[in-house]
Amino acid sequence: MSSDQDRLSSSFPTTRMRRVRRHKWSRQLVSEQQLSASDLIWPLFIREGESQRESIPSMPGVERISIDLLVEAVGEAVDLGLPAVALFPATDPALKTPECEEAINPGNLVCRAVRAVKQAHGDSIGVVCDVALDPYSSHGQDGLVRDDYVVNDETLEMLCKQSLVQAEAGCDVIAPSDMMDGRVGAIRKALDERGFLDVQIMSYAAKYASAFYGPFRDAVGSSGNLGGGDKHTYQMDPANGDEALREVALDIAEGADSVMVKPGMPYLDIVRRVKETFAVPTFAYQVSGEYAMLNAAAQNGWLDREAVMLESLLAFKRAGADGVLTYFARDAAKLMRQQ
Ligand code: PBG
Repeated sequence: MSSDQDRLSSSFPTTRMRRVRRHKWSRQLVSEQQLSASDLIWPLFIREGESQRESIPSMPGVERISIDLLVEAVGEAVDLGLPAVALFPATDPALKTPECEEAINPGNLVCRAVRAVKQAHGDSIGVVCDVALDPYSSHGQDGLVRDDYVVNDETLEMLCKQSLVQAEAGCDVIAPSDMMDGRVGAIRKALDERGFLDVQIMSYAAKYASAFYGPFRDAVGSSGNLGGGDKHTYQMDPANGDEALREVALDIAEGADSVMVKPGMPYLDIVRRVKETFAVPTFAYQVSGEYAMLNAAAQNGWLDREAVMLESLLAFKRAGADGVLTYFARDAAKLMRQQ
């Protein structure tokens, strides 16, 4: 007889929530969500050169790698069952200009990377490419700047051209992260006119002007360029939720195949509202600052890295995300394979 039974002969409490938690098999049986490698998209930073890897201090465990190493890393992703990778170029500072010409150069770093990855791995993995001008701009902004203002419509023309060179290189999913108005519709039209009917658009639909992007800007080398500038005239105000739904509605109407909420953990309420309102494929981006935060605590021995990694990713699924862009993708997939 257990001591609880000794103490209570009556059947109070009638409902015992702990009953199904008692055994592992039972917990597994009633679990509502399951995380798997097929939910994760792995963002990778690329650089010029050969056999080059460079660590990013604010993102422990994440590196900028040259294209040859990228091809290997993507091979690992395929083996681990990750469905897609997202590529981010760290552009040579000498190629960054106010007009961002390098963004539309068919021979730029990201286009060469896509070609190499597709040549090596074909259709066994999806390749997602960001569309925004910040990796190429000397000012660090996502669009063209006129009189100290990031202009919308002129930027759209560049974004369309950028999307086309990436699609021509073999990119499967165009992911506009710039937050200009009308970009999804403009890009869809440009892709369709050039025959890229099956290139998907994953729109960074609800992208907030967040301080959690800091380490990413270190990784692609755009933080210094941004100087004291910020992105508040185009990225969303963290105070707003209804506005996120309007952004998502517009992007879906303009032809987005899937939508994203970014950052992730501080915006799980938005993930939930988007999924419930629109029932479209919905992704969350666990951004660089979230990764940095969890790793910094783990490095101090304050958090268990593996446990918080899996818990945080599972939380995205519970909130309604169909998938997560996360710098933990490889480590999480490895861990899930062992379990
Ligand atoms: C570029 C872009 C950013 C991120 C993804 N695409 C940075 C920004 O908007 O300044 C952030 C990703 C991260 O922090 O992990 N437009």
